[in-house]
Amino acid sequence: MFWLTGTPLSQYLDFFEVHSEYEEASTVLEVGVGRATAIKQMSLDKKEIYAIDISDTALNKVSALTKIYNVGEIEKLPSNSIDLAFSFLVAQHINDEMFTHHLTHILPALKKDGIFCLHYAGELDGNKNDQGQAAQERGGIVRTSSLIQELVEDSGGFIIKDTVRQAGLVPYEANPEKSYEYSWRAAIVRRNNANPQ
Ligand SMILES: C[S@@+](CC[C@H](N)C(=O)[O-])C[C@H]1O[C@@H](n2cnc3c(N)ncnc32)[C@H](O)[C@@H]1O
Repeated sequence: MFWLTGTPLSQYLDFFEVHSEYEEASTVLEVGVGRATAIKQMSLDKKEIYAIDISDTALNKVSALTKIYNVGEIEKLPSNSIDLAFSFLVAQHINDEMFTHHLTHILPALKKDGIFCLHYAGELDGNKNDQGQAAQERGGIVRTSSLIQELVEDSGGFIIKDTVRQAGLVPYEANPEKSYEYSWRAAIVRRNNANPQ
């Protein structure tokens, strides 16, 4: 079970600094729809929207506004079709295997000049190896930028920008020793031009 957040589209655009890319995009993908706040705003802007989630309940709520794909059928995404993809507050809930599964299928779905805007929790305290179920559920999976680079490159992409946006401490009041530091990072990813299409 994941917390269903509702980050507004404006926060995505500010976080990744992709206002002009969004203006120009005709097709946008959201990975991890949550309360669909951003998707509803994209639909008002008349974008063609694709949505991926692990939860059919979340997807069914946006089925009138988007083309929906459960993550188990992500390979059905049409290739070479997306201008701009967002994954926000998702990477910290998924292990490397699932993260690679996303990248391997989302990168070929990007148009040649399309970009994948990837929000992730950066490692500050050596916590990166805990990718178990409890870490997934609390959104506690953190990664170094070099691990992100490795996973992106192994999946057929490359990073054009990776920026720290915010840093702080996640407190665990019940057990302060479990509190951990984090940084939110904004990576902008493209697919290799050597890929087909
Ligand atoms: C914390 S919410 C973020 C929602 C939205 N992006 C936001 O910023 O408000 C995480 C979302 O990711 C979805 N999710 C969890 N695991 C996933 C996976 N393996 N693949 C795709 N979506 C997943 C959850 O169902 C949920 O909708």
